[in-house]
Amino acid sequence: MGRAFVYVILGGGVGAGYAALEFTKRGVSHGELCIISEEPVAPYERPALSKGFLLPEGIPLPQDSWGKLTSREVIQSPWFDNSKKICGSPPARLPSFHTCVGANEERLTPKWYKEHGNCSSYHTLLLLVLMRMIKGTNLYWIFNYMSNVILCRDLHSEFLVGIELVLGTRVKSADVKRKTLLTATGETISYKILIIATGARALKLEEFGLNGSDARNVCYLRDLADATRIVDVMQSGIGGNAVVIGGGYIGMECAASLVINKINVTMVFPEEHCMARLFTPKIASYYEDYYEDKGVKFIKGTVLSSIDMNSDGKELILGDESHLPADMVVVGIGIRPNTALFEGQLTLEKGGIKVNGRMQTSNNSVYAIGDVAAFPVKLFGEIRRLEHVDSARKSARHAVAAIMEPEKTGEFDYLPFFYSRIFTLSWQFYGDNAGEVVHFGDFSGNTFGAYWVSKGHLVGSFLEGGTKEQYEAISKATRLKPAVEDLAELENQGLGFALAA
Ligand code: FDA
Ligand code: NAD
Repeated sequence: MGRAFVYVILGGGVGAGYAALEFTKRGVSHGELCIISEEPVAPYERPALSKGFLLPEGIPLPQDSWGKLTSREVIQSPWFDNSKKICGSPPARLPSFHTCVGANEERLTPKWYKEHGNCSSYHTLLLLVLMRMIKGTNLYWIFNYMSNVILCRDLHSEFLVGIELVLGTRVKSADVKRKTLLTATGETISYKILIIATGARALKLEEFGLNGSDARNVCYLRDLADATRIVDVMQSGIGGNAVVIGGGYIGMECAASLVINKINVTMVFPEEHCMARLFTPKIASYYEDYYEDKGVKFIKGTVLSSIDMNSDGKELILGDESHLPADMVVVGIGIRPNTALFEGQLTLEKGGIKVNGRMQTSNNSVYAIGDVAAFPVKLFGEIRRLEHVDSARKSARHAVAAIMEPEKTGEFDYLPFFYSRIFTLSWQFYGDNAGEVVHFGDFSGNTFGAYWVSKGHLVGSFLEGGTKEQYEAISKATRLKPAVEDLAELENQGLGFALAA
């Protein structure tokens, strides 16, 4: 059993959705493009899972949310309070956050995939008209068979699909020499060009020599199924106690959502402060104080050596023998890129699949995007693998441009960009957090930040509570990499330095 496509995207996450949009903008034909995903739903904005998805009903609508409603939808929604003229948001649920919502593009629902992938050539169009005329006759099936052999395209399916979504299907092996993928259902799918967008998987406690993942109420968060499980567990334990293992992105965002759901939260992590991969101790201290005001407790510098939920799931025992009451545990201890299918076939670097500035791997029919791709960051002259949504979106678009219009597409020139929104806080970071740090702004107020200076140049900027213009300014300044001669002067100028750059 097998099907053949010109373009196959392996993985159905953020990168896949944005690649599909770019393919349609550049004129992919019906039946040429296929997305294979282990998840049972069309690509969606994964960041919503630790934010809007976990919120209870009636939280005031965030100004810039995934699944944005139009003003008419807001007023008509059951959450609109006419007397106060405010709207509590429903928790984000599909289809409201299918991909491209965050980019203010059309939401890519399953219907969108069916309708898109238009005929790009006059000849294909003529062929389709002819096929429609002879549909149901023997001639039709002969034509369809010939088209499969010669054009690698199933014209029969062209009447039914635009972009083929093969959902709920895991690819279990890949052969880049033969250009084939074998699915867990036993189907062989062949391609002319493959885009690997397999993202990453959450690390499990077992990989750190611990156990407990199977225990009732121990949750991870990577996909929709995980998020649904967290909601179910939260709803069965409102007012209870949660322990969050890990002080990174998942830990911080989930802790905030748990608190908003009126759950008591204790965060446990091995570092001296939260968000150790990015935050300076001073920035972390601001966030930790804020979280403590919301009732969150921190247990820092604790490396777990064992974790045990007792039979009724009411207690968690840490490696240092301390006992914590826990109705639920959320584990966010990092990720591993999903490279296994290609190990030994493609060059790997930084834990991911190495690509060039066109997102092309060591096999020139295979591209890689998003969390799984290790790509050259021109600005820093280094290969990096980033685990953030903006890079997934932009690398996807760049790969498709390089595939469809190779002569017009240059090297990917990406400025790393990360962000988070927690409670009413919101920060953005651009560039690299390397070198010396200069803090600025009012750490007792709402707007403050930090610059990173390396080899006499600005290389990274962080801003909490900025306006759109201020975020644009730090982004622009970081890309320009201006010379910084005097760190004290930079501190004095603060945000003014970026605004003047
Ligand atoms: P992504 O993980 O989105 O998709 C990979 C897809 O491949 C999945 O559908 C998976 O099932 C599929 N797949 C893998 N192996 C397969 C196989 N063998 N066969 C078939 N299918 C397979 N970033 C940010 O900048 N700001 C934010 O606020 C957040 N928030 C956030 C919250 C949460 C809960 C998570 C988990 C992540 C974030 N991120 C984030 C990170 C961001 O979501 C992430 O960088 C992108 O989703 C990466 O997109 P990809 O397409 O590379 O992988
Ligand atoms: P992370 O790398 O941000 O943090 C991992 C954390 O695990 C570390 O900070 C550390 O505190 C902790 N840790 C490691 N080993 C531990 C151990 N043995 N015991 C206890 N704690 C331990 O990873 P994450 O928070 O799991 O996030 C997963 C992925 O999701 C990342 O790629 C991240 O970029 C992405 N994500 C991004 C955002 C965002 O950009 N706003 C939001 C959510 C998730």
